[in-house]
Amino acid sequence: MVYNYLQIEKEGRVAVLTINRPDVLNAMDWKLVGELEAAVDELSQDKEIQVIIITGTGKAFVAGADIKAMAEMDSIEAREFARTGQRLTAKLENMEKVTIAAINGYAFGGGCELAMACDLRIASDKMKIGQPELKLGIIPGWAGTQRLSRLIGVAKAKELIFTGEPIDAEEALRIGLVNRVVPHDSLLEEAKKLARKILEVGPIALKLAKTVINRGIDANFTTASSYEAEAFGVAFATEEAREGMRAFIEKRKPNWTKEER
Ligand code: COA
Repeated sequence: MVYNYLQIEKEGRVAVLTINRPDVLNAMDWKLVGELEAAVDELSQDKEIQVIIITGTGKAFVAGADIKAMAEMDSIEAREFARTGQRLTAKLENMEKVTIAAINGYAFGGGCELAMACDLRIASDKMKIGQPELKLGIIPGWAGTQRLSRLIGVAKAKELIFTGEPIDAEEALRIGLVNRVVPHDSLLEEAKKLARKILEVGPIALKLAKTVINRGIDANFTTASSYEAEAFGVAFATEEAREGMRAFIEKRKPNWTKEER
């Protein structure tokens, strides 16, 4: 597919998806949301790709949903916009690839929600992140109320959402909203370095671990632990597990076969 607002670059098993609508700080209108969903679908099917890095062009990651587009929406359209954004973030969260948000600047509203749907978040030291919707008289609609509470706890999530005030990278790191903060100019390289580390682990085990963590969040502890035991058993049925454990015993690096990705 040809994208107007996105660029996809592939380097081996890593894809970098860049959101490129800089004249409005990468604000997301219907068209951009549609392109993002198509790109997530496309990359989900790409067997060569194991890790996806998402970033933005210019001084924003994504400055939120497009406020000018939202200002024209009636209640029915707004509900559809929320459902569409929720479908996009759910697809992103549950895809069988590892996703890393490389947050290069402003990540507000839908931008914060998009980043939270990624598995990992690396922030530039220039990043500002927040959920400013209440300042506009609306509320987060792409499951931000839910993911933020789960990521940083209900009390901090309420503070960020009720005040609408953004926080900087250091504060985001302190409260666990991002995994690490790096100098702005090395953001992409650091994200790729992290991707390369992840590419060293067992590829099937990686998918199993992601699935168990994600499914477990919505379940009670006993049920979630039982998912883990099932997946642990599945892992032992793979050649990958034999190779991984054999390589340790033989004091060498494992050779993951291509079929196992
Ligand atoms: N939707 C639509 N347009 C947006 C936008 C958004 N979410 N965020 C920024 N833009 C547009 C601005 O309207 C401006 O367009 P213009 O040049 O035609 O006036 C352009 O992007 C540049 O933004 P500007 O506000 O001039 O940049 P800034 O550096 O002074 O401020 C922000 C940056 C991010 C602080 C500010 O743009 C902002 O508060 N944006 C809205 C954030 C928000 O509330 N997001 C949640 C939406 S639910």
